[in-house]
Amino acid sequence: MSLNIRPMEIEDISEIMEIENSSFKKGWTENLFYQELTSNDDSYYFVMEESGETLGYAGLWNMVGEGHVTVIAVNEKHRGRGIGRKLMERLIFLGVELGTTGITLEVRVDNIPAIELYTSLGFSIVGKRPNYYSEDGSDAYIMWRYEGSE
Ligand SMILES: CC(C)(COP(=O)(O)OP(=O)(O)OC[C@H]1O[C@@H](n2cnc3c(N)ncnc32)[C@H](O)[C@@H]1OP(=O)(O)O)[C@@H](O)C(=O)NCCC(=O)NCCS
Repeated sequence: MSLNIRPMEIEDISEIMEIENSSFKKGWTENLFYQELTSNDDSYYFVMEESGETLGYAGLWNMVGEGHVTVIAVNEKHRGRGIGRKLMERLIFLGVELGTTGITLEVRVDNIPAIELYTSLGFSIVGKRPNYYSEDGSDAYIMWRYEGSE
């Protein structure tokens, strides 16, 4: 079955919440996704689907010419298939389309799969936010990918 990336729709939120809740200790609420899709003109969300099943999703804010990755997650059963990479590549392409100078994100310092993914796409660690995650006080790395880097 072929993979397909398309813009997220309100109808996707319930399936997305299952992935969100199993991926993050304190993830986004249904209402937050709803607000993002309906009230934020500078946000862009995509889902990866296969045969009508949502396998993952990712989002980007365009904040005054800078891209901010807001969320990315892949259904645990489908990790390691290149889906996270394809979603990130879609966000990077969007950043180019929007003319952003670069894309930034925060990631838990111990989230090795995500850090490896971002590094392989040209992101570099540029700093750390201490106690960034309120649920357990974990630190976050700040990563940036400047347009023009690999
Ligand atoms: C991070 C995440 C989105 C990656 O999605 P994925 O579809 O499994 O990733 P891919 O299959 O596209 O892998 C792409 C690259 O990521 C890295 N990677 C993925 N899983 C990895 C693992 N278990 N260990 C180390 N590196 C890993 C590798 O560099 C990989 O490239 P390779 O296949 O050429 O080696 C997924 O693990 C996830 O949803 N995690 C939970 C939510 C989360 O932590 N989101 C990030 C918040 S900042």
